[in-house]
Amino acid sequence: MKILGIDPEKCTNCGQCVKVCPSRLYNSVAEPEKNKLRVAFADSYNLCVRCGHCIAICPTEAILFEDADEPLNFEGTKQLEKLIPYETMLQALRMRRSIRLFKDQVVEKEEITKVLEAMRYAPSASNRQNWRYVVLTNKEEIAFLSREVSRFFKTARKLLPFKILIAPFLSPGTRRRALNPKTKITLDRELARLENGEDIIFFNAPCVILHYSRDYPNGLADNDAGIALTYGMLAAQSLGLGSCWIGFAQIRLQKKRKLQKHFAIPKGYKVRGVLILGYPAIRYLRAPPRSPLRVRWIE
Ligand SMILES: Cc1cc2nc3c(=O)[nH]c(=O)nc-3n(C[C@H](O)[C@H](O)[C@H](O)COP(=O)(O)O)c2cc1C
Repeated sequence: MKILGIDPEKCTNCGQCVKVCPSRLYNSVAEPEKNKLRVAFADSYNLCVRCGHCIAICPTEAILFEDADEPLNFEGTKQLEKLIPYETMLQALRMRRSIRLFKDQVVEKEEITKVLEAMRYAPSASNRQNWRYVVLTNKEEIAFLSREVSRFFKTARKLLPFKILIAPFLSPGTRRRALNPKTKITLDRELARLENGEDIIFFNAPCVILHYSRDYPNGLADNDAGIALTYGMLAAQSLGLGSCWIGFAQIRLQKKRKLQKHFAIPKGYKVRGVLILGYPAIRYLRAPPRSPLRVRWIE
């Protein structure tokens, strides 16, 4: 999207765009011959982050732009608090669950696209929106990735007896996990399920979404991924779909160039999130409790 300027025929010089532009690209300029102020747009240094706040606020639709889809206009825009009241929103947020049991039912491309479409509207640092997706619905490809990710469990279990020897060479997090006695129990349990032919990574989900993006200097691309996938998980719920973030797959995809090549993730890009989708084979009846808030109010 590119902002081209202001349609003088439509602009009422109300100054709303001046107030909301985060890059300060709108200014009131004097028009001495008409004895009044006129709002003007100037972006000589290409500072516009294309957030579209000017388009969203202009009461007369006077902002000119190109290379973008239509802005969304609907009745409820002036009273958003009525669109999804807090209580309803909180119920939806609290009832979202990570789903690990799926019906043997394909998720149609249209439904997956609706989830991806919702992710498009997530906020991102400097409005970069630089994320990309690979969507796997091919059973063999999902099974291949599951197998490759599962290898980690096998390797970890093989190395576990030597944990004291290798501990100095591990990252602090991995070292802590290797030295934790619970790790053996978890690995043995997962490997037994693997032996049993279970898909311990994607839980036989019919769809796996890989979210990847380039790094950018402020290091906030991981946060962008988190928000986009959260939008996707909530959208999935509203479509009757279950979802679960699969950190195990994300980690392996980040570490293994072979896997990146297999899924054509270009060099310089990083997989920052993996989401599974499918129709839930279970229905949760209530939202579980959560830890209490830990807040320090500085008033
Ligand atoms: C970043 C992230 C990574 C996760 N990785 C996995 C995973 O690899 N496998 C899995 O079964 N669940 C994974 N989960 C799901 C969490 O276990 C789950 O969100 C948590 O237990 C709370 O349950 P809920 O999502 O139903 O509220 C992950 C969640 C997040 C946010």
